[in-house]
Amino acid sequence: MFRVDTLKGRVAFITGGGGGIGLEIASCYARLGASVAIAGRNEERLQSGLERLRADGGDAIALRADVRNYEELKAAIDAAVAKFGGLDILVNNAAGNFHCPTAELSPNGWRTVVDIDLNGTFYGCHAAYGHLRRSRFGGSIISIITMLGLSGWPGAAHAAAAKAGILSLSRTLAVEWGGDNIRVNTISPGPIGDTEGVKRLYVDTGREDLERRKTALGRFGKKQDIANAAVFLASDLAGYVTGENMIVDGGRWLKYVAA
Ligand code: COA
Repeated sequence: MFRVDTLKGRVAFITGGGGGIGLEIASCYARLGASVAIAGRNEERLQSGLERLRADGGDAIALRADVRNYEELKAAIDAAVAKFGGLDILVNNAAGNFHCPTAELSPNGWRTVVDIDLNGTFYGCHAAYGHLRRSRFGGSIISIITMLGLSGWPGAAHAAAAKAGILSLSRTLAVEWGGDNIRVNTISPGPIGDTEGVKRLYVDTGREDLERRKTALGRFGKKQDIANAAVFLASDLAGYVTGENMIVDGGRWLKYVAA
């Protein structure tokens, strides 16, 4: 268990924060003392996310922004800074994905996912940089990717390429912005139960049991597992950790390689 003041005084901005893993991270951050801004496209989802955060006693706001629109995302980040007085943590969590064999994938389908995942992450990092470098704690950027970006992902070439791009971008920024005391890391979740991604990719496609068996632990992860990693990476506990990809996948990656 983390101490309740682990993130005390920090401000976090989380894209795709209205539900799923993003909201779980926001909720954990808020409970550990951070002020939290959640951003997303869908007003209703954001409002219900905000209600949950406030019901838990969190200091939180919700801001509508599509990560594909740089100006919109920058305005949301600036608004969070205006509200809370600074920015210490950026979580690039917003993602789009659907199962589609590559030969059937339209150029617009490809572009849409790359736009959300890779371009959206770049936009977030770029828009947040000036604020993060002024963080008194040192800035922290955390982006959610997947090891399937490294192995390739049959049926999701768009997302795999985008996630591999995010890993590369993160390692570049870890070096470029290390001198600004900004740490840049990624988290690679495995299949996490009760999420839109698992529903779309594994439940709806009838691959749920197969995917479970692919992990060394033989089960799906919990959203809390990813939030725990996101707390660690955002906190002083990871003060010397940058350019790292933290794999939280129940051993799926290793089983792919070793079994
Ligand atoms: N199979 C094949 N092509 C698909 C598709 C599917 N299941 N879903 C969308 N597309 C294509 C569309 O046909 C369109 O291409 P076209 O113009 O050539 O026909 C293109 O992708 C854009 O689709 P659109 O619905 O206009 O985009 P959007 O911006 O409204 O939605 C998505 C973005 C497609 C990523 C949508 O799935 C989404 O909003 N997802 C958010 C949540 C999510 O994916 N979570 C899981 C993260 S792991």
